[in-house]
Amino acid sequence: MSELQGRKIVLGVTGGIAAYKAAELVRLLGKAGAEVHVVLTEGGARFVTAVTFQALSGNPVWSDLWDPRMANNMAHIDLGRDADAILVAPATADFIARLAHGLADDLLTTLCLARDVPLIVAPAMNRQMWEAGPTRRNLALIRGDGVTVFGPGAGDQACGEVGMGRMLEAEEVLESLEGFFVPKSLAGRKVVMTAGPTFEAIDPVRGITNISSGKMGYALARACVQAGAEVVLVSGDVALPVPLGVRRVAAASAQAMRTAVVDALPGADVFIGVAAVADYRPASYAAHKIKKSDEEMSIPLVPNPDILAEVAARADAPFCVGFAAESRNLDDYAETKRRRKKLPLLVGNLVSDGMGGDENSVVLFDDEGRHPLPRAGKAVVARGIVNHLAAMLAARRG
Ligand code: C5P
Repeated sequence: MSELQGRKIVLGVTGGIAAYKAAELVRLLGKAGAEVHVVLTEGGARFVTAVTFQALSGNPVWSDLWDPRMANNMAHIDLGRDADAILVAPATADFIARLAHGLADDLLTTLCLARDVPLIVAPAMNRQMWEAGPTRRNLALIRGDGVTVFGPGAGDQACGEVGMGRMLEAEEVLESLEGFFVPKSLAGRKVVMTAGPTFEAIDPVRGITNISSGKMGYALARACVQAGAEVVLVSGDVALPVPLGVRRVAAASAQAMRTAVVDALPGADVFIGVAAVADYRPASYAAHKIKKSDEEMSIPLVPNPDILAEVAARADAPFCVGFAAESRNLDDYAETKRRRKKLPLLVGNLVSDGMGGDENSVVLFDDEGRHPLPRAGKAVVARGIVNHLAAMLAARRG
């Protein structure tokens, strides 16, 4: 279930070319279960009409401070009163300037001034406007007032320029908004993790690998970043988008993964091994494709480093979390593995329950015993794991 389910969002749309992205954003917010009320400025209405937003949100669109539709004629107060947040996307340089100085000469600015709910802006402007002194100063002012700023991103701009100032894509705004509502239980923590399979090359076209979609690891990386952590995700070869805010380091083989983990470890508070690391690799790599013959053949294998056990055994070990996918005897095998690798926390699941799919049912093992989490989508399971991890970290610190 999305963090946005059942939330009421007032979406302000100001006059920038990126207003077209706001239409898609309304659709995505609705899909995530949010109730959206659009406030369109005069400038915004020059780019996308109220009819579009009305059709997409299923709610009346507001533009006029003097709109007689609101029962007590207090649209500027009533709209924001029971909202979970006001999000202005796109927010033009002009809008940000007016916000910074407390102007209240149209419905949206009035609504922003007369509110006690969080205010978020997603700036959208040309590179020069973004870099201009007044914009810099105005942004510092609104940040100082507690306004959250999403983006902007860099890239091609409608004016032909390339650079900072582009509004985030609708999906990125949605992702950031969802993260906004997640409690920041891992704020100030650095998390290093592994995910996906490893690939141990035999020759240029063949190798040994494990079945791992990477979905659980990527969901966990996303949950950690949304909980406020800095996240380095050392990942085997998977076809998944990198969660917003996560630093991904590609590492195909177990040895490459180990090196990348060791490089990322300084300053880490937590290490989570989610990757399905191949236990063995070929003793040697054939530089050229091995030719077929009628002879039986065997490939000598040597053990791979156990990355998690190695990290957990360090004198300066961060808090280590392991994963165990078992095909039977989950409780026994998982607890034995946790003790052998000296892990404070291990997440166990039966391969039949989670592999490759979008749902998982896991059991957390720690010194206190076993804690089953309800079967759910991997995003929800990941949030459950983060909550447990954050509570353990807080208890250690305290
Ligand atoms: O021993 P097993 O492979 O079942 O242990 C699983 C846990 O150990 C996972 O957290 C996995 O990421 C980690 N692991 C590792 N390096 C290995 C093997 C497993 O980090 N070579």
